[in-house]
Amino acid sequence: MAHLIRLDDSLALDGLTPQCVQESLHQAHQRLLDIADRRGQYADQTGWFDLPVATPESLIGRIEERARMLRNMSDIIVVCGVGGSSLGARAGLGFILDNETGLPESSGLQILFAGDSLSPRQLNHSLNRLAERRFSVIVVSKTGTTIETSIAFQVLWSELLRRFGADDARKRVVAVTDSQRGPLFSMARAKGFETFEFPRDIGGRYSVLSVAGLLPLAAAGLDIRSVLQGAAEQRDAILGTSPADNDSLRYATVRRLLSESGKSTELLAPFEPSLCSLAEWWKQLFGESEGKDGKGIFPASAVFTTDLHSLGQYIQQGPRLLFETIVDICAPMDRTLSLDPGELEGLEYLAGRSLANVNRQAQIATALAHHDGGVPVLRLSIPDMSARSFGAVVYFLEVACAVGGCLLGVNPFNQPGVDEYKKRMYELLNAPGMPSKRY
Ligand code: PA5
Repeated sequence: MAHLIRLDDSLALDGLTPQCVQESLHQAHQRLLDIADRRGQYADQTGWFDLPVATPESLIGRIEERARMLRNMSDIIVVCGVGGSSLGARAGLGFILDNETGLPESSGLQILFAGDSLSPRQLNHSLNRLAERRFSVIVVSKTGTTIETSIAFQVLWSELLRRFGADDARKRVVAVTDSQRGPLFSMARAKGFETFEFPRDIGGRYSVLSVAGLLPLAAAGLDIRSVLQGAAEQRDAILGTSPADNDSLRYATVRRLLSESGKSTELLAPFEPSLCSLAEWWKQLFGESEGKDGKGIFPASAVFTTDLHSLGQYIQQGPRLLFETIVDICAPMDRTLSLDPGELEGLEYLAGRSLANVNRQAQIATALAHHDGGVPVLRLSIPDMSARSFGAVVYFLEVACAVGGCLLGVNPFNQPGVDEYKKRMYELLNAPGMPSKRY
């Protein structure tokens, strides 16, 4: 069984007995089976589990075709959405392309994210970037009511109308939203936008492998079939492996046990800056899934080695409330340091090394130092930064998060706290009738 994603917990188990890990793994496996068989109280929220193997060819083809059309008519494709309706696509672009928006020059295309804040400055900046460029918009909102997305989209729609006229503007919009209700659904129907259904049984943060994530990735020219393939391989590995060798369940289990031993914060730490957007998605996934009923590990992130020079002191010697999950790319992009040994004043030890090798030594050193300082360290290994590996790591983390939430005794698929803020804001804006509840 091919395990694309692996977990090394050898520096995280101090104080945890093998028996307690085994018992917890067994419970995790029961929760996995409930989710896989769509049993139990959350059965109607687990549509994400089968996406890698159940997404119909007709939908994949339609996504690819629409993405091609958008690319052909655009210099810039704007992806308008927030939270789970944006972070997954951002994570994929950052992971696979190194950079969220900067596609290769040769593609002649840029992706611009909008609708994820209420900042006038940011919106003005986006509009300035669109001036005199051909652009189109993918708007993603499950409810269609989210204020950040709605405001940005209305502004973008006005701009499309002004620049391209009603008929062309309409063809430049694709909406991913509920298939029967909500303001975005109504507007799409009234204006004649093409729409894709945001599945009701999938929450925003679990939607990366649905059309909500796949359409923006395809629009950027990425191979969404490989993304789904990697996720499907990871799914096979998770379903076909005993609990003891099941790293996704192990991740859920060990972080739960660490939390019970007093570690209340998890720091996700890639040694590659372009994994920053993956970390942002991970924070939402775990934060929204676990942080309720007074429970949950606080998900934080840092990029190493950069942040070792700012947060390193706190991690090494501050309150012992942290554990760390290092993200390791097994085959990173490399660069040989072709340095002339004769010119290396005091840096002779670098001669002959590659930069990826130095980065790896830094990773090992960090794990050892932090572990010695009382920080349990987990290491998540990802083969490379391909579309396939992206699909695999997303699936690995989604399963770990859902299973971990069930172990914690919370509903890992709702977000009543987010709805609470939306309700208060609508009251302050004198829009008390606005629906904020999830469909
Ligand atoms: O995970 C979630 O449910 C949230 O982050 C939502 O994705 C976010 O609030 C955006 O909601 P919507 O897709 O309805 O616009």
